[in-house]
Amino acid sequence: MDNIENFGVYISTYGCQMNVNDTERMYSLLEMMNYSEVKEPKEADLIIINSCSVREKPVHKVHSEVGRYKKLKEHNPKLRIGVSGCVAQQEKAKLLADIPLLDFVVGTDNIDSLPQIVRDLNSNISKAPKINVTDFKHRDAYHIETLVRNPGVSTFINITKGCDNFCSFCVVPFTRGRERSRPLKMLLQDISVLTKRGVKETTLLGQNVNSYESDCGANFATLLERVCLETDLQRVRYTTSHPKDFNQELVDVMQRHSKKLGAYVHLPAQSGSTEILKNMNRGYTREEYLEKISMIRKALPDVSFSTDLIIGFPGETEEQFQETVSLLGEVGYETIFAFKYSPRPFTKAARFENQVDEEVKTRRLNELFKRHKEIAEKIAERYMGRVLEVLVEEHDCQSNTVSGRSLHNKLVHFNGSKDLVGQLVNVIITEAFPHNLRGELIQ
Ligand code: SAH
Ligand code: SF4
Ligand code: F3S
Repeated sequence: MDNIENFGVYISTYGCQMNVNDTERMYSLLEMMNYSEVKEPKEADLIIINSCSVREKPVHKVHSEVGRYKKLKEHNPKLRIGVSGCVAQQEKAKLLADIPLLDFVVGTDNIDSLPQIVRDLNSNISKAPKINVTDFKHRDAYHIETLVRNPGVSTFINITKGCDNFCSFCVVPFTRGRERSRPLKMLLQDISVLTKRGVKETTLLGQNVNSYESDCGANFATLLERVCLETDLQRVRYTTSHPKDFNQELVDVMQRHSKKLGAYVHLPAQSGSTEILKNMNRGYTREEYLEKISMIRKALPDVSFSTDLIIGFPGETEEQFQETVSLLGEVGYETIFAFKYSPRPFTKAARFENQVDEEVKTRRLNELFKRHKEIAEKIAERYMGRVLEVLVEEHDCQSNTVSGRSLHNKLVHFNGSKDLVGQLVNVIITEAFPHNLRGELIQ
């Protein structure tokens, strides 16, 4: 038999689940070219930094990570280094000009060009071409198939790409392009392939899943209902929902299929102040947001909520910040993802004049987390002594424990063997913390 040459690829991933999913797609495409994932950059023939640009010095992070690979490239001139993701899309050829060690940049809409890029680089070893593939495919249909190498119990599926909302703080519409939805039929087919490979749960991904619209006219609520009715998935999750588009039709579907869809909603508020929300271009007031929360709670009384919040948006006064703090208690979020506002290129808010001082942002963020900790500890007590249904995702050999998620998206740990992975089991909760629960398997 001929010896087939094998190569190693190392991808470091930053940012959201879109990037995690794109990394999986890149590994799958490269596997077809005999590249296998390696755990250390030093073992790699190809290194890709799948970057995120949503906040805090993203270009600087790419520079310093590539810098760390300088020695590796000196030892192995065949090593190729590239940048993908949102910083690649944002900076394009400028990255290649500014970082001489880089061989290529590939944009968020061009992942499928990766095999060709790698082929071109490898056929030109001595000439060391620089490759920039970052054009947007705004008008193309979004008809890609899901690529996953070894799907476990739970996997991601893209339902939309891009975003048309242009929240004034957010770079994503500029780094992911215009919104496109994948056809419903294609999604159902992909899920059925995944369930045959053992997948029990998928998370449907989009920047604003609620604005999903299939070419057959199906909206997000229809898509969710059909996924629940027509596939063998045991659990279906989705992220991210935009509060302005979260409607009664969707709540009704969640209620009808709560065994699969669970009692968990991530609803990014960003701020508790109507004035700030207006300047953020979010499309809802504090009161409208709270009405959505009540609408969901009415249908799903056991629901658990999480949210994203931005602290120190331009012009945020102490009173407006306190309106965000008071939202924590009013909604009763179990988890929050809160960030200091960071000016992003191309965005409207970066040009606002009344930027908030860094120390003020830090103080407010700390205060917010402190307040939330108190609230979350109290809320966690509601799980004590309850029996929760858990989809087991992982086994830890050393401690012979397993972990999985409840319908409230709570991580639950308990003693159990490997054969439980992939099963839905009942667990009685004996210890409850804001970020996870511990319990015992009920046989
Ligand atoms: N599509 C999602 C969010 C994607 S970005 C949505 O609409 O909710 C993820 C989170 O990053 C946002 O919810 C926001 O809280 C945060 N974020 C985005 N831009 C930011 C910025 N300029 N500064 C600080 N946080 C930001
Ligand atoms: Fe960014 Fe707003 Fe789109 Fe979310 S909805 S990705 S925050 S522009
Ligand atoms: Fe970051 Fe791009 Fe996601 S900016 S959060 S990787 S869409």
